[in-house]
Amino acid sequence: MTAFSESADPHRQHERCVTIDLGSRSYPVILSDAWDSGQPQNLLQQHVKDRPVAIVSNDTVWPLYGETLLQAVKKAGPSHCSWHVLPDGENHKTPAQWLAILDHLANNGLTRDGVLLALGGGVVCDMTGFAAASWMRGIPFIQVPTTLLAQVDASVGGKTGINHLAGKNLIGAFHQPVAVLVNTRVLTTLPEREFRSGLAEAVKYGLIQSAPFVDWMLRNRRNLLHREPGVLNQLVQQCCQFKAHIVREDETEQGRRAVLNLGHTFGHAIENLGHYRTLLHGEAVAIGMVMAATLSEHLGLARPGLGKKVAGIMQALGLPSDFSSLPAGIDIEADEYTPEALIQRMRLDKKVSHGRHRLILLKELGQADMVDGVTEADLRTVLQAFCA
Ligand SMILES: NC(=O)c1ccc[n+]([C@@H]2O[C@H](COP(=O)([O-])OP(=O)(O)OC[C@H]3O[C@@H](n4cnc5c(N)ncnc54)[C@H](O)[C@@H]3O)[C@@H](O)[C@H]2O)c1
Ligand SMILES: [Zn+2]
Repeated sequence: MTAFSESADPHRQHERCVTIDLGSRSYPVILSDAWDSGQPQNLLQQHVKDRPVAIVSNDTVWPLYGETLLQAVKKAGPSHCSWHVLPDGENHKTPAQWLAILDHLANNGLTRDGVLLALGGGVVCDMTGFAAASWMRGIPFIQVPTTLLAQVDASVGGKTGINHLAGKNLIGAFHQPVAVLVNTRVLTTLPEREFRSGLAEAVKYGLIQSAPFVDWMLRNRRNLLHREPGVLNQLVQQCCQFKAHIVREDETEQGRRAVLNLGHTFGHAIENLGHYRTLLHGEAVAIGMVMAATLSEHLGLARPGLGKKVAGIMQALGLPSDFSSLPAGIDIEADEYTPEALIQRMRLDKKVSHGRHRLILLKELGQADMVDGVTEADLRTVLQAFCA
């Protein structure tokens, strides 16, 4: 368990650092508003000086921040620096676009001593990481995450990959970056729904392992929702610490790391029902976490009222808690979102055997556990209340 400690003065620290402690594969996550000075520049010099570098981004993020990162990288003295801009969107997280990255590396002479940089959200981070994992059996890469979700989750922990037609993230590898450079100032341009979607992944850490952190998020929700820089830095630093702790214990998800999937089996089913176009990942996971808490309550694993409590937390953070509290302008066909349809999607999850489901459930705020053998009858009863 990682303790949550509130720092007295959020503005005092100019740079923050979290170490992901994995022995010889350890690396720093640096939170700083600049890439061309201080620790970020030191790290760039350490990893790119006199080496060929390729930056991978997408056509939304590159026009916003590409030039600034490029100047910072050039200042660090690479032998050669090129960039590859992907089309934006999860639907481009494909083998074809991954191959296009590798073609770029081949055409730009990225040898084994080359370095990749990912500038973008989780899609760019995952794809660049997988290109780095596979090119010449693995070259170093640096994550420069630009969405809240990528800063608190996708850029840390070494899961890299792309989608296969048969499903999300089916092709991939564990490959840790050599550094993660977080600049929360880039979050100012993030669309509102994307920002809140990231808050869902942040509050997930609190639900799993720290009730005081949930409480802190609620007390600071106005500043969080206004993207106040000091509070955002505290949020991201704390989330990276939570993730660092879990990843250190279980790097390749043999056991404890699975608690990070709280709300995700439900969430993936919800995303899948909307063909990944209706709800964002974090929004679906927010509803999924309320479902998990309600199911715990139903199974007698949690005290009565936990489901409502978690629903209240999601609402306070501007997130949906059920299908009747979706973001403005999002319509779903109620007759498609039935318990049966959700359960059918949940069966596609790897964690089902003989019709019984393995799920991450919530015992109380700050305590999650893996539970085996959940029956579909129990799922049906709980989901009915969400789908009515
Ligand atoms: N590797 C992991 O451990 C891990 C964990 C969680 C999620 N993921 C993956 O992450 C992906 C989702 O990531 P995401 O939510 O960041 O989505 P995303 O990468 O698609 O980014 C969301 C949108 O925001 C845009 N954007 C990014 N930064 C911006 C900025 N600063 N200003 C304006 N627009 C910006 C993007 O171009 C995109 O349109 C999924 O593919 C998921 O599988 C991986
Ligand atoms: Zn997630």
